[in-house]
Amino acid sequence: MGVILLLEKAIKAERAFMEMLRNKNRGRQFANLASNVDIFIEEFRAIPDDLILDESYMEKFVIEKIGLNNEDLSQQPSELTPYYGKGLYIWQYPKQFAKYIIWLMKNAKNCNSYLEIGCRWGGTFIVTCEALRRANPNFKYAIAADIIAKTPFIKRYSEIIKKDGLEIVYFQGSSTSTDFADLVGKKKPDIAFVDGDHTCIGALQDHMLVREYSKIIVHHDISSDACFHTTFLWKCLKILENTRDSIEFTDQYQSVNGRFLGIGVLLANINK
Ligand SMILES: C[S@@+](CC[C@H](N)C(=O)[O-])C[C@H]1O[C@@H](n2cnc3c(N)ncnc32)[C@H](O)[C@@H]1O
Repeated sequence: MGVILLLEKAIKAERAFMEMLRNKNRGRQFANLASNVDIFIEEFRAIPDDLILDESYMEKFVIEKIGLNNEDLSQQPSELTPYYGKGLYIWQYPKQFAKYIIWLMKNAKNCNSYLEIGCRWGGTFIVTCEALRRANPNFKYAIAADIIAKTPFIKRYSEIIKKDGLEIVYFQGSSTSTDFADLVGKKKPDIAFVDGDHTCIGALQDHMLVREYSKIIVHHDISSDACFHTTFLWKCLKILENTRDSIEFTDQYQSVNGRFLGIGVLLANINK
């Protein structure tokens, strides 16, 4: 028994080490791609007002201009192959993300701050900040948190956006740390996007951390065959958080075998 436990520990440690090496190498590769942030900002800000809330226009914009992650293609539609490993590398389904971003621009006009737990390379974080800025001139503060070091995308975005009056804080570390709890308690983000630890207890801990402060709490991977824990947690939260309305963005691609990703929003409703 002791030998099996030791072996399990050794395998876990080796996996964590390999993951760290992969992330380090990717970090280096991303250093040459920081200008993708400048290009995205220019193109996003140039979208006319009548098109920014148009679902099919924005879905095309996500695919062609924002660019998609290429770390795990098993859940990705093959028809989007030319767009993986491009732009801001966002880990999203364009069908879901475009509708979610439009929803935010329409409904989060009174939200002045944003927190993303598990921001990875930073693509989703940057797009969300730009959308929130566009919807609300008082959007002034955002926290990006991840175990991995601050990435070139987030570094570049922080440089650019400072002169536009948006303050960005990067928290490197676990969302379960006391330092992170202190930061969240101090800054009380209006919107929280939970996309870090995908175990049931991990995502629930993150939810509990923000629920007192965040008017809008967003969960990722709420309808995913690959993420049983977060899918299950979302089902529970919809029942347990019964003073909040819920909205889901879970459109799927026919070319993919199974259901994946999914964005769920829990919205404080003071009338209930
Ligand atoms: C699926 S990725 C996030 C993708 C990103 N939100 C996007 O849309 O592109 C999950 C991230 O969560 C981070 N993570 C996992 N557990 C965490 C924790 N306890 N605290 C902070 N970050 C965590 C991982 O390092 C990883 O980068």
